[in-house]
Amino acid sequence: MKPFILGVFQLMNPNGMSGASWRHPDNTSLDFMDIDYWVKLAAMLEEAKFDFLFLADTYGTPIVDGEIPAVALEQAMNVPTADPVSLMSALAVTTTKLGLVVTSATTFEPPYAHARRFSTLDHFSRGRIGWNMVTGASAESAAKAFGQPLTPHDKRYDMGDDYLDLTLKLWEGSWEDGAVIADKAAGIYADASRVHRVVHRGEYYSTDCTYQVIPSPQRTPVLFQAGSSGRGLEFAARNAECVFLQGTSLAKVAASVTEIHAKAQGFGRAPGSVKILVGLSVFTAPTHEEAVRKYQDLLDLTTDEFAAAAYVANTGINLLALDPSQPLPKIDAQQGQSNVDRYRSQNGEKELTVREILDEFKSRGLRGLVLVGTPEEVADQMEDYADQTGLDGFLFEPHIVPGTYTDIIDLLLPVLRERGRAATEYGADTLRERIFPGEGPRLAAHHPGAAFRPEPAPAQPRHLQTVKG
Ligand SMILES: Cc1cc2nc3c(=O)[nH]c(=O)nc-3n(C[C@H](O)[C@H](O)[C@H](O)COP(=O)(O)O)c2cc1C
Repeated sequence: MKPFILGVFQLMNPNGMSGASWRHPDNTSLDFMDIDYWVKLAAMLEEAKFDFLFLADTYGTPIVDGEIPAVALEQAMNVPTADPVSLMSALAVTTTKLGLVVTSATTFEPPYAHARRFSTLDHFSRGRIGWNMVTGASAESAAKAFGQPLTPHDKRYDMGDDYLDLTLKLWEGSWEDGAVIADKAAGIYADASRVHRVVHRGEYYSTDCTYQVIPSPQRTPVLFQAGSSGRGLEFAARNAECVFLQGTSLAKVAASVTEIHAKAQGFGRAPGSVKILVGLSVFTAPTHEEAVRKYQDLLDLTTDEFAAAAYVANTGINLLALDPSQPLPKIDAQQGQSNVDRYRSQNGEKELTVREILDEFKSRGLRGLVLVGTPEEVADQMEDYADQTGLDGFLFEPHIVPGTYTDIIDLLLPVLRERGRAATEYGADTLRERIFPGEGPRLAAHHPGAAFRPEPAPAQPRHLQTVKG
């Protein structure tokens, strides 16, 4: 039996995926600005042999008519949020095996600066960095924070493709392997004939440079993606090596898995070249009743207002301003479409009303799949879900630190291990080799980014000429 790829979701704020979980009496998440909190958490995950810790991020907040709703500040939703890319630098030092995956939005970070930052992190972590490439949730308020107009939804993904091409050229196309000589006696740091100028003139982004960072173990960070709109899945199929899906319904997940694999092959990529993970919230305890109580404890912390603010942050739609008895009107959601599409009826089923959507979102929030039960019950459902959808793994979305982790590590992982579904050891050192065992630390040859690799050049070094007087 193949082990699942298992990661863990965190935000660098006091809340988890949804719900005002910071208020839970057992939650230590108010320490989120204390580096020791993250160091301890990463050590715990490494000890348990998780494949990676993922730090999600957005620059956006909920806004309604240009204002942040008070509930967002009162319940610590998106504000406060600190910079998780900086956190990765610290965890790169305190861990040695755990993969470190972090979001950086293509809409806002200049591609050259982004590429250099991630190359540096890949060096520091010795090849354990992954990049979650998103165009960005809460796009309207994030754009305002950067003094930009809101870029339309699909255009953000067009820009994302261009952004990817530029960054891939920097990572793959500038320095040949072996270009670093670092020979003190010969007085040569780099073989100038093997360091190539990178020229990219895209519709949205351009560069003409010599990339400044020498190749890191993976060169390109492992490429993750997380937006499940139609255009988002297209972007994923072209660029991503791993995709996070929101586990809304089994049928939708199975359809998305099939679509991503088919589209990836359409881009010339090998079958199985995209690994797909679904977000999963687990409430487990030795008895079923106790597990149900744990879930209820979390639900009790969440109000209509909180759920509506979380929904507006991800869609731009204020459910509380709509007629609760009516279905969601046809709205062109430029902020994010996954959480609108998620509630549209499929195959002619009855449309949910606004009230039903709010109730559903209140109980599940951005979390997709929720499994509640004994470790055996949860493991059964995970296996069943994966078998029926063709998923490769799960992204746990914990709500209480450290409580949810200890439940998963002490109760669920032993059951999954017994069934051969969870790793018992770390194999390779880089994140890419853990996700694609035996395929080496570098981007696969069939990924579009591999086309940017330079032909080994016999060109002469370009020495400066002395101007003759
Ligand atoms: C497990 C998971 C993690 C996600 N992480 C992020 C994230 O860190 N930042 C972000 O902006 N969007 C994240 N998203 C995606 C957003 O929910 C949203 O779908 C997306 O940003 C908007 O694109 P779309 O319209 O294609 O859905 C995540 C989604 C899932 C399912």
